[in-house]
Amino acid sequence: MTIAKYRSIFSSSTAQQRKENFDNYWEFTQQHGGELLEDDKDLAIKRARLQYFQDNPVKLRQPLANPEAFYRNYVEMQDKSESLDKMTLMLTGIYKFARHEWVGIKGAWDVVPNMANSHSIEDKISRIHLAEEFCHVRLFDEMLKTVGLDKVEWVPLSPWKEKVYEQFPKFPGFLMDTPAFVTELMGVTFYFHLHALFDDVLADEPEVRERLKELLDEITIDEIAHVGQRRNFIGSVGIKVSKWLVKPFYTMFFNDIPEVAQLFDVKKMIQDGEDFDFNAVPNHMIEKSWIPSYCKV
Ligand SMILES: [Fe+2]
Ligand SMILES: [Fe+2]
Repeated sequence: MTIAKYRSIFSSSTAQQRKENFDNYWEFTQQHGGELLEDDKDLAIKRARLQYFQDNPVKLRQPLANPEAFYRNYVEMQDKSESLDKMTLMLTGIYKFARHEWVGIKGAWDVVPNMANSHSIEDKISRIHLAEEFCHVRLFDEMLKTVGLDKVEWVPLSPWKEKVYEQFPKFPGFLMDTPAFVTELMGVTFYFHLHALFDDVLADEPEVRERLKELLDEITIDEIAHVGQRRNFIGSVGIKVSKWLVKPFYTMFFNDIPEVAQLFDVKKMIQDGEDFDFNAVPNHMIEKSWIPSYCKV
């Protein structure tokens, strides 16, 4: 039996601990992504990493059998999803998940203060956080290019939904912090399940399988840090509300992406979210990521 090193993400914390953790996270995040390239919504170290992947491309041994099925269904499902093969479902599912992320951050980027106007540590952290999210969309785009899908467009949601996403970051903290935290947690849960799915769907494509895992790991390492960071905004009542929100939130979000129920065990994902405590995170990720002090034993 291994001894648990970490406590539940829903563990309690004091205001003083959270203040110290913000200071600590701020140190972490600056060295993690490198210089903020604000005009490009990018970070120097992450840009170099993406460049490395682009300079060293890998290809499928067997090109996609039916890329048209992807292009027909990636923005909105046109076919019956049961009629699609697992590979296509996985790729359209990745796009749809990433698209939600992209819409959310696009709306937030213009309403949160830029770095020059960020005076609190929390504001500075949030600016870097958003830049990291833009890097994730580029990494997802690179995943799709790696399997030969180089005509993908990032399509906005309907104007009404875009407006909702734009309003969200303007909400006061006590309303915004719990869903923002649960959203990050949902990301980590989804990425762990996706990582396992690569072994199944790409069993005969070792080079692409490993590359997609590398690209996904880049994202997941950031998201693990985001989970702790967003948790750090939340006090003792909010953290109970957050745990309660996991089930309805995951259910609502995944219902919107028909691929998810076909590819993943949503019940298990909800369970993983509620039980999350960093103990299942591999060491190579822990080393590069960040965990709040009060979640360590
Ligand atoms: Fe992300
Ligand atoms: Fe995130």
